[in-house]
Amino acid sequence: MSTTVLVTGGAGFIGSNLIRWILRHRSWHVVNLDALTYAGNLENLRDVESDPRYAFVYGRVEDAAAVSQVLQEYDVCGIIHCAAESHVDRSILSVEPFVETNVRGTLVLLEAARSHGIERFVHVSTDEVYGSLGPNDPPFTEESPLQPNSPYAASKAAADCLVRAFVHTYGMPAIVTRCSNNYGPYQFPEKLIPLMITNALDDQPLPVYGDGQQVRDWIYVDDHCRGVVAAYERGRIGETYNFGGRSERRNLDVVYSILRILGKTDDLVRHVPDRPGHDRRYAIDCTKAERELGWMPEISFDEGLERTVRWYLDNQSWVQSVRAGEYRRYYQQQYGWRMG
Ligand code: NAD
Ligand code: TYD
Repeated sequence: MSTTVLVTGGAGFIGSNLIRWILRHRSWHVVNLDALTYAGNLENLRDVESDPRYAFVYGRVEDAAAVSQVLQEYDVCGIIHCAAESHVDRSILSVEPFVETNVRGTLVLLEAARSHGIERFVHVSTDEVYGSLGPNDPPFTEESPLQPNSPYAASKAAADCLVRAFVHTYGMPAIVTRCSNNYGPYQFPEKLIPLMITNALDDQPLPVYGDGQQVRDWIYVDDHCRGVVAAYERGRIGETYNFGGRSERRNLDVVYSILRILGKTDDLVRHVPDRPGHDRRYAIDCTKAERELGWMPEISFDEGLERTVRWYLDNQSWVQSVRAGEYRRYYQQQYGWRMG
């Protein structure tokens, strides 16, 4: 019998790249459960929507009846949980949706996975649960304490703890992955790299928070997707695996690199007030994933950034439709529901 995996949040940035990666590299069937929030866009999966191994189900992860029905109807044997509210700035403006989706949604999925005897549950989490590093601190390992600083990071850490408790208490066959900042095609232009690319293309100002000296460890999204599948296939139950790109960059340097690729001048850069509670530096030690999963990041930052800029240049209609929210009006007609 064929393997059917449920990917939650598959219409988002990482979820859509993950589904594409799985359909290309594995024989599995994939069901995508997504609530199509502002960040979920079925255009991201246009090229695979007619694949007989792919199905889309519209629904929320915190809707127990919907989740249970998907697991039963599609005879799902494993879950890769990507659905989340994912943007730190939004979490600062309003915490509630982050607790609802990221914490309660994960709990509902875990309960459903338990009652349906799911064989494998990969919870896709973030390095932001570890908090912030000083300039000379060693990178985060899986043993680093959880010290989330933003409401987003706190909600992800809470979800990670629920997964841990389900493994420990109920023997849930779950694994947690924690990845650094992703970039690549189909990323919603609210995150640093796609925002800077799309603004620069329109000769709009590039808002750099504070002094722009904050450091992130950038990973090309395909490298992350490969890691998630490796954790699904080869990860040890109850373990956590960090994924990172071994590509620490200061925000300002990332912005200058984008401007250089596009042939634009630095005077588009605008320093704006800093994000409240802004984490100064993230960096990931991924030696455990390299050792146990045989995984390593393959795409250098320079190559990945060139590819990403090229994708946004070649997909201007996607950018325009995302910015105009056109796809959301279409879903409203399609599903007759006021989108969140
Ligand atoms: P995204 O915001 O692009 O996509 C999130 C998807 O989840 C969207 O399709 C959205 O419609 C869906 N969704 C939101 N709430 C939902 C709900 N209640 N029920 C069902 N679907 C819902 O996010 P992303 O950047 O693709 O991140 C995916 C996952 O990876 C998240 O769990 C995030 O925490 C994690 N992660 C992201 C990064 C990154 O750099 N983007 C890094 C590490 C980990
Ligand atoms: P972001 O892409 O929001 O990811 P995260 O906050 O989860 O790391 O931001 C990456 C970095 O870029 C972070 O240090 C905040 C900064 N940033 C800006 O300076 N300007 C912006 O407009 C955005 C969205 C982010």
